[in-house]
Amino acid sequence: MNRYATISGWGMYVPDRIMTNHELSLMVDTSDDWIRSRTGIQQRHIVDAKEATSDLATRAGWAALHSADIGPEELDLVIVATCSPDYHLPATACLVQDRLGASRAGAFDVNAACSGFVYALSMANSAIVSGAANKALVIGAEAITRWIDWTQRDICVLFGDGAGAVVLEATDRPSGLLSYVLGSDGSGGEMLMMRNGGSRLPPKGNLPLDGGLNMNGKEVYRFATRIMGKAAREAISRAGLTSADIDLFIPHQANLRIIESAAKSLDVPMSKVFVNVQKYGNTSAASIPIAICEAANEGYLQPGQNVCLIGFGAGLTWAAATLRWMPLRTHPSQSVPKRVVRWSRAPLARVKSLIHRAERRVDGLEDEIDRREWLRERLRRDELPHDATPMTNGHGQGSSNGHAHSASDQPTTATPSGRPDSVTPPNGTDKAN
Ligand code: ACO
Repeated sequence: MNRYATISGWGMYVPDRIMTNHELSLMVDTSDDWIRSRTGIQQRHIVDAKEATSDLATRAGWAALHSADIGPEELDLVIVATCSPDYHLPATACLVQDRLGASRAGAFDVNAACSGFVYALSMANSAIVSGAANKALVIGAEAITRWIDWTQRDICVLFGDGAGAVVLEATDRPSGLLSYVLGSDGSGGEMLMMRNGGSRLPPKGNLPLDGGLNMNGKEVYRFATRIMGKAAREAISRAGLTSADIDLFIPHQANLRIIESAAKSLDVPMSKVFVNVQKYGNTSAASIPIAICEAANEGYLQPGQNVCLIGFGAGLTWAAATLRWMPLRTHPSQSVPKRVVRWSRAPLARVKSLIHRAERRVDGLEDEIDRREWLRERLRRDELPHDATPMTNGHGQGSSNGHAHSASDQPTTATPSGRPDSVTPPNGTDKAN
């Protein structure tokens, strides 16, 4: 039996706050007319001071799970495509996995900028087709306006925040991802870059971003118009199809002119191309899944239709995929018990997460008690030299005065069972004892 990974649910979320072109024209030297004519953008949604990428991603994830009519505990994988994660570590996908209560799922982020969602989709597809996973949640989410310098008119007018998600499920019906193409040209990395805050230019004080997102708009424009048609043609031909077989093209929503140019190069009418850049601006990795959700909800996607997704972005990266739209269920069940279960999932996940945190604290305390008892016993038996060098205290710190400590403040490294197995001198090299 052949395995396919079909999209069985979808959901999106954008922050409430809308910023119009007019509002931007009060902040920088620009105009609604300039932004509309150069980009097609009319407004964008912006995170508020308390919102981060995982908040948007979690909401979109819940919506996708509801629409697929499955519970978070059924997921094997949670992948978040983002270039504006909550933190460098942990991955935003782990935060989302916890908040959804997807207790069986592996979770990781993908950063391929605006191409990230198609990259993530291809990874989830491979996991499902190979039999390694049955159900995956793939999310594209960005709070990218956090990286925007609001005084730079050539950048700040382009971007917006949001999240879109799909559930992929294993099926034997030929559907879902039929082909994909992933590409990268790192020689163009400088065209679109966030220089500071990484290991090359580590954060200094509280100012890791220093200028935020940098872009050579003209070069990115040239690259995008060249690559979108090429990548789409390749993905379509790998699926054994032609452009004429594609019912709907869903390109990355960066700029209406770029989209029109790609349509021209593919020789397809704009009536076959889904566009919503006017409402959201460029939401980077979130733009394609948000567009999938709107296209599905507005009836542009019908079962059995062929769809082509096309992304491009920083890296430089590109990604295109063809898929056959064939949701497993047309509507989630609306029965009362099902609705109660659905409604209770989010608070239950929160409670589960709190219980896990509490359990970890209790485990930590138990380990600490074991460790101190073990240490006291060894000191009593005089097995440890009283001038033993200080040992790590579990926080990566040790005293450097070279004197023995009392048993109660004499920490050491411990095995996972709580049994200490080595002594770490101040120079950091482990010495088995
Ligand atoms: N308002 C008014 N004038 C502006 C603005 C603005 N917001 N921004 C720039 N300008 C000015 C420039 O200063 C320049 O002025 P000058 O000619 O006096 O020097 C002029 O407008 C440039 O005008 P154009 O050349 O006509 O601009 P262009 O048609 O190249 O459009 C744009 C600029 C919209 C940035 C375009 O190059 C573009 O869309 N590039 C691709 C950007 C993109 O998609 N990036 C995202 C990639 S995806 C990712 O991974 C995040």
